[in-house]
Amino acid sequence: MTTVTEHYENHLAPVYLWMAGGFDAAVARGESEIDAVCPQPSNGCTAVDLGAGFGMHAVPLARRGYSVTAVDSSPTLLEVLQEHIGTLPIRTVKDDLLAFQKHLDAEARLILCMGDTLTHLPEQASVERLFSLVAESLHRDGTFITTFRDYTSPLAGTERFIPVRSDDQRILTCFLEYFPDYVAAHDVLQERMGSAWQLRVGAYRKLRLSPAWVAAALEDRGFTVRIEPGLAGMVRVVAGKRSFPEQRGTDPKSGT
Ligand SMILES: C[S@@+](CC[C@H](N)C(=O)[O-])C[C@H]1O[C@@H](n2cnc3c(N)ncnc32)[C@H](O)[C@@H]1O
Repeated sequence: MTTVTEHYENHLAPVYLWMAGGFDAAVARGESEIDAVCPQPSNGCTAVDLGAGFGMHAVPLARRGYSVTAVDSSPTLLEVLQEHIGTLPIRTVKDDLLAFQKHLDAEARLILCMGDTLTHLPEQASVERLFSLVAESLHRDGTFITTFRDYTSPLAGTERFIPVRSDDQRILTCFLEYFPDYVAAHDVLQERMGSAWQLRVGAYRKLRLSPAWVAAALEDRGFTVRIEPGLAGMVRVVAGKRSFPEQRGTDPKSGT
């Protein structure tokens, strides 16, 4: 099995934008999620997007006045984000998300780790380490928001084959194989090459994090925690250092 970074660079990153339905559609979903969890516009406060990818949340945050540091280990996805930044206050950083502190020059008001990025960390101890760094780096009124998939209850049989996206040129299916501490995510990509279909398969590990464990780990670090439905079946955990941001309604079923 490859590392997460290798899997993204060799397998997922080249098709990630297609998988997400294109830049504009993905950013529109990011906008709706940002509106739901932090609707107040910012006046230049610092936000950090950990595992920002092509900027599905970084772009909406910057449009709402945040000065965003977008950290990701994938140069391919950061390049896509860079192409869309224009005059938006977004700084892209290619680094491991556990090293984000060295790229901060002020306390952050908002730190995000969205779209199942948390489960990409190598072990639960890394998640705890990340939460400690987040607690250290946030302003006293700051908020940490993470969304991830709950893989604690194993799917069985054919349920483990998950159609991700398809069109007449590509088909992406994910097969989940369960182990005690992690799930092996096998991304099965079929691509049309002229009249033939080419098959490429790659796999990487994702942690099986329970929402209750994530909440407790954040509470241990002084956060007040709220758990709610996120986009496309993900769990959203909103952790306030002191209080929660104002919340608007959201449709958890929309988007990916
Ligand atoms: C599932 S994608 C989510 C992207 C984005 N947050 C979203 O919601 O669309 C996970 C992202 O995290 C990045 N990533 C995974 N592990 C990382 C790590 N240890 N350090 C930095 N980036 C990482 C991947 O390159 C990828 O862009």
